[in-house]
Amino acid sequence: MEAIKAPRGTRDVLGDESWKWARVLEVTRDVADNFGFKEILLPIFEHTELFSRGIGEVTDVVQKEMYTFIDRGDRSITLRPELTASMVRSYLEHDMRRRPQPVKLWGWGPMFRYERPQKGRYRQFAQIDFEILGAQNPLADVEIIDLSMEIFRRFGLSNLQVLINSVGCPACRPAYRETLRKFFGSKTQHLCDTCNERLDKNPLRVLDCKRTECRDQTDSAPSMIESLCIECGEHFAAVRRGLENLGASVSVDNRLVRGLDYYTKTAYEILSGDLGAQNAVCGGGRYDNLAEAIGGPRVPGVGFASGIERIVLTMEAQGAYMGREPHVDAYVVTTGSGAEYEAYMLAHELRAGGLSADMDFMGRSMKAQMKTASQAGAKFACIIGDDEIAAGTVTIKDMETGTQETAPRGVAVEKIKLRKEGSR
Ligand code: HAM
Repeated sequence: MEAIKAPRGTRDVLGDESWKWARVLEVTRDVADNFGFKEILLPIFEHTELFSRGIGEVTDVVQKEMYTFIDRGDRSITLRPELTASMVRSYLEHDMRRRPQPVKLWGWGPMFRYERPQKGRYRQFAQIDFEILGAQNPLADVEIIDLSMEIFRRFGLSNLQVLINSVGCPACRPAYRETLRKFFGSKTQHLCDTCNERLDKNPLRVLDCKRTECRDQTDSAPSMIESLCIECGEHFAAVRRGLENLGASVSVDNRLVRGLDYYTKTAYEILSGDLGAQNAVCGGGRYDNLAEAIGGPRVPGVGFASGIERIVLTMEAQGAYMGREPHVDAYVVTTGSGAEYEAYMLAHELRAGGLSADMDFMGRSMKAQMKTASQAGAKFACIIGDDEIAAGTVTIKDMETGTQETAPRGVAVEKIKLRKEGSR
């Protein structure tokens, strides 16, 4: 029988990568604190209706990509494809309207979309997600964009492009849809099949098609900005003003429309020049009607999400500083057959002293143990054999300089601690 493999589109994040994720989350947490966001932990599955109503029935996510199943209680359940709808559900369910507004929340975790896997695109992927709920003010949009840029700044990432657009609101979008339908009406033979299907239900998505034949047609398409109502136009101008004040390098992209239907007014993306085809490292915008779409009162909101895999890929491609891979401070090496239990006690004492320590359980030769110590990046090897046990001592070897000294067991831990601090 062939050994079972992980399902297509999923990946195991192994030890040589998982510490980079820890670093991404550490920086994200710091920035969240700086900006006054509180972390919330939400369920990985929700009622299907939350997403079909929230994200929109005619989106690719809802029509083609959701992991939906009937549970044993005969309910339709969906593995979350994103966090925004769940954030808004949680805000409504816990009556967060009673708190001082706006409410600023962030979360992270795995999302699920049945997409065609390729580099940077998976069926299970992780996002960090930030939302400001309850604020209509364009400064909330500015804060969201500023925050996302700050996270990437802290990683030292460059070669990023921030694109912004306004997708209008239910007052001005229908007229723009009609304008687009008319514009593309005479060009249908040049558009791909998917775009021809979209033309009817969601013509804005035609602008987003990446195929060259469609892009050639969308180049000269009328822009949403020219069709915005007064309120949306003023909002967009205010967001741009706020970003200009920050000196942020942001380009307006008339073709930027997002794949989720809840957006109103601001839509934005950050693209990485180091990712290939799946180059969106972050996407977000305003969604003033989402709360109503899922059965609540009107709650304006704005937010973004960023894929952790894509952040890590970009950091790797750019050689960005990710902190140091964790290493052990001391590796306990045994010589002689009776030393294992004493060695374990020493490892225990080192750990109790706040140091990270490891040892061999496989009865390997001293040479092999020293090799493992060096592979684990150990600063010190603590050698313990029959002689050391008899004398109540340990031989400490500095792995960098090769120098050795023998110390009484009781002071070995303190010595290593001091040397570790001294070498910082
Ligand atoms: P989204 O653009 O669908 O927006 O996803 C946000 C980010 O998640 C993308 O820019 C990308 O980095 C990552 N991502 C999406 N799909 C995949 C995938 N299949 N594999 C790997 N990474 C992926 C949202 O999800 C919205 N909820 C963002 C938002 C928050 N809007 C307002 N608030």
